[in-house]
Amino acid sequence: LMSSNSGKSPAREQWGSQFGFLMAAIGSAIGLGNIWRFPGVTYSNGGGAFMIPYVVALLTAGVPFLLLDYAVGHRYRGSSPAVFRRMSKRWEWLGWWHVVVCFVIMTYYAVIIGWSLRYTFYSVNTAWAQDKDGAKDFFFNQFLHLSGTVGYNSSPVWNVVIPLVVVWAVVIAVIGKGVAGGVERANKVFLPLLVLLFVVLVVRALFLPGAVDGLNALWTPNFDSLGEPKVWVAAYSQIFYSLSIGFGIMLTYASYLPKKTNLVGTGLVAAFANSSFEVLAGFGVFGTLGFMAHQQGVGVDKLEGLTGISLSFITFPTIINEMPGGALFGILFFLSLTLAGITSLISLLQVVGAAAAEKMGTTPLKAALVTGIPAAVVSVFVFGTTSGVYSLDVVDAYINQVGVLSSAIIMSAVTGVILRKLPMLRKHLNKVSDTKFVGQWWIVIVGAALPILLAYMMGDTVLGYIENGYNPKDYSRGFEGIFGWGMLAVAVVATIALTWAPWRTNVDSFTAQDEEGAEYSHAGVPAPAQKSDAKEVTSDAEAASSAQA
Ligand code: ALA
Repeated sequence: LMSSNSGKSPAREQWGSQFGFLMAAIGSAIGLGNIWRFPGVTYSNGGGAFMIPYVVALLTAGVPFLLLDYAVGHRYRGSSPAVFRRMSKRWEWLGWWHVVVCFVIMTYYAVIIGWSLRYTFYSVNTAWAQDKDGAKDFFFNQFLHLSGTVGYNSSPVWNVVIPLVVVWAVVIAVIGKGVAGGVERANKVFLPLLVLLFVVLVVRALFLPGAVDGLNALWTPNFDSLGEPKVWVAAYSQIFYSLSIGFGIMLTYASYLPKKTNLVGTGLVAAFANSSFEVLAGFGVFGTLGFMAHQQGVGVDKLEGLTGISLSFITFPTIINEMPGGALFGILFFLSLTLAGITSLISLLQVVGAAAAEKMGTTPLKAALVTGIPAAVVSVFVFGTTSGVYSLDVVDAYINQVGVLSSAIIMSAVTGVILRKLPMLRKHLNKVSDTKFVGQWWIVIVGAALPILLAYMMGDTVLGYIENGYNPKDYSRGFEGIFGWGMLAVAVVATIALTWAPWRTNVDSFTAQDEEGAEYSHAGVPAPAQKSDAKEVTSDAEAASSAQA
C-alpha cells in the first residue's frame, strides 16, 4: 500500500458539484442526434409503436451501459487509456481507441455546429429565401459551394471555415479552463439556455396550422413494425448514439466525481432527461412538418428530407420561409442546434484532452491546445472545403457503425468476460450510490447479452459495407475506400502509436476509490469486501510498475 501511494499522481480535478456533473452529462447526451435524428428515426420505424423498442433499448442497453461507463471511470479514476491500463496493462489500447474515435467524430461534428451557427445568422433575414431555386439550392450552391463531382477538393469554403474556427476556439477555451472552471460552467449556462429556447420553439410549432397532422403522422403506431429486426436495431443504435455511451465520454466525465456520489441516481436522471428531450424534439419537428404539409396541401407522408442534414438545412429553411415570424423561428432552431452540438463537442474534446494531459503530464490548457488545434485543422481541411459534405457523410457512417460499436463491444467483452470486473463494479456502483438497485441482471446484460447483440448489429452493417459500400448510389468504392476504410486504418495506426508512446506521469500507481473511500463505509471500518477489492488493484499496480522497472 505504501509503495503505491508514494508515487501518487497529482490530485485529480473534480466537478464543483453533483449538479454540475449532471448538467455536463445531460449536455453531452443531448446533441444533434436528439433534434435531427430521433424524430425521423421514430417516424420511419413504426411511429408511436417505435416507443416500445425504444424504451426496451433504453432500459436494457442505455441505462446498463451508462452505469458501466460511470462505474469504470469512477472506480479507476482516469482518462480512458489510464483506466483500461489500470484494469490490465494489456488493454490500454482500448482507451486509445476510444480517444481516436472521439477525435474523428469531433472533426466533423464541429462542422455541423459551424453550419448551424452560420444559419443562425442567415435566419435573421432568411437569406435562403432570396434564392430563386429555394432552400436546397441555397444550401448546396450558395452556402456550401458543393463541388459537382464526388472526390476530394481542397478549395476552402469561407462560409463554413469562419464559423468552424469560432466553434473550435470556444470549445478549446472551455476545455483549457479545466473540468470545474470550464466544462461545468459552460454546461451550466448552455444547457438551461438550450432547454429554454427549445421549449419556446416547440410551443410555437404546436400552434402552427396543421401541427396536429404532423403529430398524428409521427405517433400513430404501426405495430407490425415490431416484428422487423431493423426496427429494433434502429432503437438500439439511437440509444447508443444519443446517450453518448461506450466510447469514453461518460467514463471520462465520471472520473471527476468525488468518492461518494450517487452514480445510479444520476445515471437514471441523465438517461431520462435525454429521452425526454428527444420526445420533445419529436413534437417540435413533426408539428413543424405538419405545418409544411398543410401549406402544400399534401399529406405528411408525401414530404421528403425528414432527418439529418436535409431536415435541418433544407426542409426547415423551406418551412421558415412560409411561416409568419419565420426569422425568429429560424434563430431559435439553429441556435438550439448550435448549443446542443457545442455541449456534446465539449465532451468529445474532454475525452481526448484528458488522455493527452495524463499521458504527457501537462495542464488542461496545454492538453486542450495540443489536441484541439490538430482536430480543428483536420476539420477545416477535410470538411471545410467544397467536397466537405461528401467526406462528412462517409466518415460519419463508418466511424459510427464500426468505430463506436466496436468500442462498446470490446469494452463490455473486456470488463465482463476477459477481466471479469463486473461483480466488483456492481458492488462499487451500489456502494457509492447507497442502493441495491444494480442486481445480478446487470452483469448478465452488460457482460453477455449486450456484446452479442451489438456484435450482431455491427456484423450485419459491416458485411453490407464490405459487399456494397455504405452508399453505392452516390459514392464510388474508391471514395469510400479513402474516407471510410482508409480513415479507419489511420485510426488503428494512431491507436497503436499512442499506446506505444511512453507515459510521463506515474499512471500505474493510483489509489482506487475504495481504498481512500474506506472512510465512507460505516464509522471508518472498511468492510472485508472493500479490502479485497483494494488489494486487487494495488497488486495490479505493483505488478505493473515492477514489470516496467
Ligand atoms: N449524444 C450526442 C448526440 O446526440 C452525440 O448528438
